[in-house]
Amino acid sequence: MPVITCIDDLKRIYERRVPRMFYDYAESGSWTEQTFRENTSDFDQIRLRQRVAVDMSGRSTKTQMIGEDVAMPVALAPVGLTGMQSADGEIKAARAAEKFGVPFTLSTMSICSIEDVAENTERPFWFQLYTMKDEDYVNRLIERARAAKCSALVITLDLQILGQRHKDLKNGLSAPPKLTPKTLANLATKWGWGLEMLGTKRRSFGNIVGHVKGITDPSSLMAWTGEQFDPTLDWGKIAKIKEKWGGKVILKGILDAEDAKMALKVGADAIVVSNHGGRQLDGAISSIRALPAILDAVGDQIEVHLDSGIRSGQDILKAVAMGAKGTFIGRAFVYGLGAMGERGVTTALEILHKEMDTSMALCGRRTIDELGRDVLLIPEGFEGRWQ
Ligand SMILES: Cc1cc2nc3c(=O)[nH]c(=O)nc-3n(C[C@H](O)[C@H](O)[C@H](O)COP(=O)(O)O)c2cc1C
Repeated sequence: MPVITCIDDLKRIYERRVPRMFYDYAESGSWTEQTFRENTSDFDQIRLRQRVAVDMSGRSTKTQMIGEDVAMPVALAPVGLTGMQSADGEIKAARAAEKFGVPFTLSTMSICSIEDVAENTERPFWFQLYTMKDEDYVNRLIERARAAKCSALVITLDLQILGQRHKDLKNGLSAPPKLTPKTLANLATKWGWGLEMLGTKRRSFGNIVGHVKGITDPSSLMAWTGEQFDPTLDWGKIAKIKEKWGGKVILKGILDAEDAKMALKVGADAIVVSNHGGRQLDGAISSIRALPAILDAVGDQIEVHLDSGIRSGQDILKAVAMGAKGTFIGRAFVYGLGAMGERGVTTALEILHKEMDTSMALCGRRTIDELGRDVLLIPEGFEGRWQ
């Protein structure tokens, strides 16, 4: 077993272990992947301010996100098809998150259903909702999330229409994979993954199969989901969903100060500054670059979270020092899950925690509350001077 010291180590094992189709699905951005790349490279532009001779004993990364205690300001982001990265992947990731003390968000497009995850965990998790044309189906999803005692509804706003990822089209992405000569040749080298998959019944979209009439075979399912995203979603509809849910609401996919103000108006409990990990609008700015203007606009009135591009504890530190109350990680936990299942997700969380805690100490800070922009060295013009 190799010595695992960073998220990149998990990614290398993940790449070897999981079928190419699902590795590519996670490790891609839309079109030219400019936004996908800049999500990480923009984090690198910000530097940390080293301080010395500060008592660093009694440190803690504990804080709260939407009023819930968290071991560090990190939640697991909703990731579709997580159960294809590792058998029963959503249950494994939710368990790792629960044990670590951070929130888990279940995607609408998960393999394990809301009920599956609820039965196999102790603590309430968050449910991510895609708004679909079929209003009855959306209402039933909300009811199911309520029945499963989910403690927040995360409504994703940046996917009314799907950004194109070239590799998914070329690979013929489906869940479960279609057995073409190309996929069979690749699967033959992924026997560990295959054996685990044979041991579970959960191999298709668990929140959809059995809940939508006429969906029987996987190919019609992929087509159905592609056609189902609601292009008419607007702030009025968001307000109605919020009312129907009645609990805490997080609006995910905000990248513009004007939209952040609208989120505030509809009474969301938090927003996630996000470009969907560079998977939607290619050419959009990175989340970390978008964060300061959004914080200036609404930061004192609503909880602002951030995702897209976090690969280290230092990245989390940068986002939180900039002013985010919390962060979400997508690929960073997927690498761990694909590499080593539940243990891999735990390892990813441990790595991020250690990196964050140590870096915080070296910046001379002991608690999350002590983090502020004075910890950061932000290059002049970082936000960009866009016309
Ligand atoms: C493979 C994959 C699948 C995703 N599926 C969903 C999804 O079903 N719902 C959603 O709101 N966001 C989805 N996202 C976006 C993530 O929630 C999150 O915004 C993104 O992964 C953050 O970027 P990062 O991967 O660089 O951390 C997905 C991301 C990835 C990588």
